[in-house]
Amino acid sequence: MKAGVIGYPIQHSKSPVIHQYWLDKHKINGSYQSIEIKPENLEVKIRELVNQGYNGFNVTIPHKENIFKICDEVNEAAKKIGAVNTVVIKDKKLFGTNTDAFGFIQNIKSCQPIDFSKKKALILGAGGASRAIIFGLLEEGVQEIILTNRTIEKAEKLKQLNPQKIKIINWEEKENFLNQVDLLINTTSLGMKDQNPLTINLENLSSKALVTDIVYNPLMTSLLTQAKDRGNPIVTGIGMLLHQARPAFEAWTGIMPEVTKDLEQKVLL
Ligand SMILES: NC(=O)c1ccc[n+]([C@@H]2O[C@H](COP(=O)([O-])OP(=O)(O)OC[C@H]3O[C@@H](n4cnc5c(N)ncnc54)[C@H](OP(=O)(O)O)[C@@H]3O)[C@@H](O)[C@H]2O)c1
Repeated sequence: MKAGVIGYPIQHSKSPVIHQYWLDKHKINGSYQSIEIKPENLEVKIRELVNQGYNGFNVTIPHKENIFKICDEVNEAAKKIGAVNTVVIKDKKLFGTNTDAFGFIQNIKSCQPIDFSKKKALILGAGGASRAIIFGLLEEGVQEIILTNRTIEKAEKLKQLNPQKIKIINWEEKENFLNQVDLLINTTSLGMKDQNPLTINLENLSSKALVTDIVYNPLMTSLLTQAKDRGNPIVTGIGMLLHQARPAFEAWTGIMPEVTKDLEQKVLL
C-alpha cells in the first residue's frame, strides 16, 4: 500500500498513526505519509502522486471541496456531503468518496445495538461534520432530525437534504426539545480544547437518550460528563475518526481493519 493524507497544514493529522497501526497489525509492506500541499499546487501535486504509484490518499482541510474537480468520479455520499475525504486511485483514475457518515454511524453501532429508524435526533451544529452526520442518519432511516445552529441560515441549507424529516429550531430554544429525542448529538466545535464550552441544561432529556459528541479533544467533553453523571448512555467522538479511516484502508489493501482500544490509546496520546 502506498497512501497518505493531503492537506495544508498537515502536521496535526492523526491519519498516519491510524494507518501505520493497521499496516503493522496486518504485516503489510506499505507506507502512509503526511503530504503537505498548498491549495495552488493541488492539481500538479496530485498528478505526481498518481505517477508515483499511490493507491490513494485521504483529504483534509483545505482540499475537501477542490478535489471534486480533479476526481474522475465522485460517489453519491461525497456529492451529498459536499466533500471528498478519501480518494482511491485505479488505472491512474481518481475515485472520490466520503467516509465521515460511515465513521459516525459505525462508532455508535460499535458501542451499542441501535435501530436508527426508531430514533429522533437533536443535532447541535450545521457545519461540515453535521452535514455528513445528517446524511448518515438519513441513510439509516432515522425517524426525525431536529436541527439547530447558532447561524440558522446554515441549518436551513442542510434541511434540503430531507425537508420532510428535518425540522429547524432556534439555537436558544434547544433545551425545550430535549424531551422529544432519543439521540443528542453535538457537532459544533464547542467543548473543544481552547474553545468555549457547550452550555446546555440536560434536565428535560430522558435518561435513556444516547448522548454523543464528535469533539474528541478532550475525550470527555463537558457535555459527555454531564450526560454520564445523570445516567445517560454516551459515545465519545474518537471512534468516528477511527471508523471513518476503515473503508479507505480496505479500498487500498483489501482488508477491512478493526478499531481496538489499543489503537484508540495510540491516537489519543
Ligand atoms: N470525531 C471526528 O471524527 C470529527 C470529524 C469531523 C469534525 N470533528 C470535530 O467537530 C467539530 C466541528 O467540525 P466541522 O468540520 O463541522 O466544523 P465547521 O464546519 O467549522 O462547523 C463548526 C460548527 O460549530 C458551530 N460553532 C462554532 N463556534 C460556536 C459558538 N461559539 N457557539 C455556537 N456554535 C458554534 C458553528 O456554528 P456557526 O455555523 O454558527 O458558525 C458550526 O455549526 C470540530 O471540533 C471538529 O474537530 C470531529
